[in-house]
Amino acid sequence: MVQFAHLAAVLVTALAGVVTADNCHGGLYYCGSVLNTKGNPIYLKYFRNYYNDIIQSLENAHQATDQAHVNDSLFYCKGPDDIPFQRFCGSGKCVNGGQDHNDSCED
Ligand SMILES: *[C@@H]1O[C@H](CO)[C@@H](O)[C@H](O)[C@H]1NC(C)=O
Ligand SMILES: *[C@@H]1O[C@H](CO)[C@@H](O)[C@H](O)[C@H]1NC(C)=O
Repeated sequence: MVQFAHLAAVLVTALAGVVTADNCHGGLYYCGSVLNTKGNPIYLKYFRNYYNDIIQSLENAHQATDQAHVNDSLFYCKGPDDIPFQRFCGSGKCVNGGQDHNDSCED
C-alpha cells in the first residue's frame, strides 16, 4: 500500500510537470526558436505550446510564417499567452541570450 501511494505521487508529479511546463518570462524578448523549446513538446500540443502562438503572432503582424520567420524572429513576452512580433532578424540570425536574458538579433 505504501509503495502504491508513493508510485501514485510520483506519477501525479510527473503529469503535473508536463501540463505546467515552462512559460516565457514576461518582459523579456525571445527568438521564436527559443520559445519553441518552451511550453510542451509538439506532440503534446493539446497542452500549451508556443508554435501556434508564434504563427498567430506572425499573422497578426502580416509576416511570412515560414520556418525562418518562426525560428529567427524576436517576440516580446508580455505574458504566457501574449507574444507580439517585434522584428525578423534574418535566417539564422536570432541569438539566444540565455536564461533570464533578452534574446537579440545578430547585427
Ligand atoms: C527551425 O528550427 C527547427 C527546430 O529547431 C529546425 O528543425 C529547422 O531546421 C529550423 N529551420 C530553419 C529554416 O532555420
Ligand atoms: C530586456 O529588454 C528590455 C527592453 O529593452 C529591458 O527593459 C529589460 O530590462 C531587458 N531585460 C534584461 C534582463 O536584460
